[in-house]
Amino acid sequence: MEELSPRPGELEAIETASRDEIAALQLDRMKWSLNHAYEHSLFYRARFEAAGVHPSDVKSLADIARFPFTTKQDLRDTYPFGMFAVPRERLARIHASSGTTGKPTVVGYTQRDVDIWADLVARSIRAAGGRRGDLVHVAYGYGLFTGGLGAHYGAERLGCTVVPVSGGMTERQVTLIEDFKPRVIMVTPSYMLSILDEFRRQGFDPRQSSLAVGIFGAEPWTNAMRQEIEQSFDMHAVDIYGLSEVMGPGVANECVETKDGLHVWEDHFFPEIIDPATGDVLPDGKMGELVFTTLTKEGLPLVRYRTRDLTRLLPGTARSMRRMEKITGRSDDMIILRGVNVFPTQIEEQILRCRGLAPHFQIELSRSGRMDTMTVHVECTAEAADENARAACARILADYIKSVVGVTTTIEIRDPGAVPRSEGKAKRVVDHRPKE
Ligand code: DLL
Repeated sequence: MEELSPRPGELEAIETASRDEIAALQLDRMKWSLNHAYEHSLFYRARFEAAGVHPSDVKSLADIARFPFTTKQDLRDTYPFGMFAVPRERLARIHASSGTTGKPTVVGYTQRDVDIWADLVARSIRAAGGRRGDLVHVAYGYGLFTGGLGAHYGAERLGCTVVPVSGGMTERQVTLIEDFKPRVIMVTPSYMLSILDEFRRQGFDPRQSSLAVGIFGAEPWTNAMRQEIEQSFDMHAVDIYGLSEVMGPGVANECVETKDGLHVWEDHFFPEIIDPATGDVLPDGKMGELVFTTLTKEGLPLVRYRTRDLTRLLPGTARSMRRMEKITGRSDDMIILRGVNVFPTQIEEQILRCRGLAPHFQIELSRSGRMDTMTVHVECTAEAADENARAACARILADYIKSVVGVTTTIEIRDPGAVPRSEGKAKRVVDHRPKE
């Protein structure tokens, strides 16, 4: 793999600014953002008044903790446009996140918001090792989902040639990669695995492909998965994070030279970690729920938005801005199995330790009597498809999960290709337990 690091003069000044400079900028912007929300969003004016707080209460960054949280439910309650802080005519773009139940969450951007978003995705692609002039294959879905268009505008902003493939038609993904020879791919990690299978099916060696950098996000994935993808494609695999409510992809990104967690672009988003049960702010280094206050957004400013994503904040390394550790999972995806908390990422890690297993898996939850049970459906590789190899893999995986994660599971070894694939975010958990 090619060694990658930023070229001299390539970084924006704020990326290497001192902590004091970053904090001063954040405080100015936080005051602006809270004022903007208070003055222009009826929702926030009412919220702040009910909580007895006013934007002028903010004298230091820590004062943000006096303000109430915003949740996804607030966006649902004000569907579709009730939380916007500009008249609808000033919005340049609307996106929405599908959500599994009910109405989608709608978000809106002014032209300035779209511009800043493009700048931040450009910064993210550069952090990942992409450069002006690169050919970028975008296989995130285009449409209401922010992945495709978010990646697209950012790659254009960096000065790349963008191929807007979107998700799906996996055969064609491989043809386009083989023929156009992109240096960079942007796609969900789970769909990258489907593309990997398709490379092999078509008889191409993925390690010989033109891809040098993959920018993967929109769903949790582990360092074990990173290794798997990096080795299979002989490429760098870098993590990109974001959520529609806060912006879309490009809220935080890993740097290719360190790959040690994602630098939060703190000049535009103020992160906090809270205890999800009490709402108390936790110090850096402690694991909890990630909360964001937007610092520059016009269309939909968000104050202390609860992401439900679990991680911790760490000091900057390759950049001065703080890092968030790779996301363990969403609090909504946490499985509580007979009293033990389990995240799909923990299962992924164990699967990737087993030779003979492919990283395609799905977790099925059922109830028998009063007992919850968990079955892990996972594929064997073509080389380990015989009876004996399957039985051995199942035994080893069950042991790993029992000893590391602490739960007893049933392992179903499926044929190669038998676990359902997604063309975007993978559906890791199928829950058949009766709703309480
Ligand atoms: O997934 C935005 C995005 C697109 C990010 C493309 C990265 C790449 P939503 O559909 O609103 O937006 O889903 C946001 O996805 O709260 C996390 O739970 C999860 N998520 C996003 N990126 C990561 C990541 C886009 N790198 C939700 N690691 C977030 C883990 C992620 N989870």
